[in-house]
Amino acid sequence: MTGAESYGAFAYAYDQALGERYFRSVRRLLVERLDRFPAKEKTHLDVACGTGLAMPFFAARGFASTGVDISPVMLNVARKRAKTLVLGDARSLPFRGTFGRITCLYDSLNHLLDPRDLATAFAEIANVMDADSLFIFDMNHPEIYPAVWGMKEPFVDEGRDFHLEIATTYRRRELLGRALVTGWAIVDGDRIKIRERHTQRCYERDEIIAALAEGGIDAIEIHEFDPWNEGRIVKLVFVCRKT
Ligand SMILES: C[S@@+](CC[C@H](N)C(=O)[O-])C[C@H]1O[C@@H](n2cnc3c(N)ncnc32)[C@H](O)[C@@H]1O
Repeated sequence: MTGAESYGAFAYAYDQALGERYFRSVRRLLVERLDRFPAKEKTHLDVACGTGLAMPFFAARGFASTGVDISPVMLNVARKRAKTLVLGDARSLPFRGTFGRITCLYDSLNHLLDPRDLATAFAEIANVMDADSLFIFDMNHPEIYPAVWGMKEPFVDEGRDFHLEIATTYRRRELLGRALVTGWAIVDGDRIKIRERHTQRCYERDEIIAALAEGGIDAIEIHEFDPWNEGRIVKLVFVCRKT
């Protein structure tokens, strides 16, 4: 297994700079899928839950929601939204039972840099699914890596309590996008410095489908998703059943 992509102090600026806006957008998709496929077992697992943005949404629909993430700092922020939070790796899930609905949102699985790790994560997720379970996840559309991660200008956002800059590069030959995340956030009255590096791998649609098949999962729907309503498809959203 390659190194884990745990988020650090970035967690304290994540919600305001990125997470809340993305969840508002993906929420529409979730509502449609949950209405179309009513769950028998009202349990939800959010893999790579981060700051727990999806969890109150499921709780409000009567689900007992559990979040798992590899970053203690993200989980610390999630505590304001959710109770059942577990520190763990998507490639080795610390659960025995099954969950009715499973999500993994905001391109978290692109942090798995080796296709074998992606297949392992899918196999782990299949282990906590039964015939009624639905697994909904998104990954970055492969075309955004050269187009967006390869851009010269960094992403910059700021608010009263944070300043964030994300400078990205993309190496076509390695299929790897690298991000340098810098800035600061005010946490309990203190100014915390943010400086960390993250890497993502670009996966083609067929590679994702092959990794799902290896893990024992079938995609029943694949959506091209434009979360920012800018006329550009930047995510692929998969709705899946256990094979
Ligand atoms: C972009 S954030 C998305 C968080 C959340 N899903 C959301 O929609 O806001 C990516 C998250 O993936 C987590 N992560 C990365 N690699 C992971 C792994 N191998 N296992 C579990 N979590 C992981 C990071 O710690 C981070 O919280």
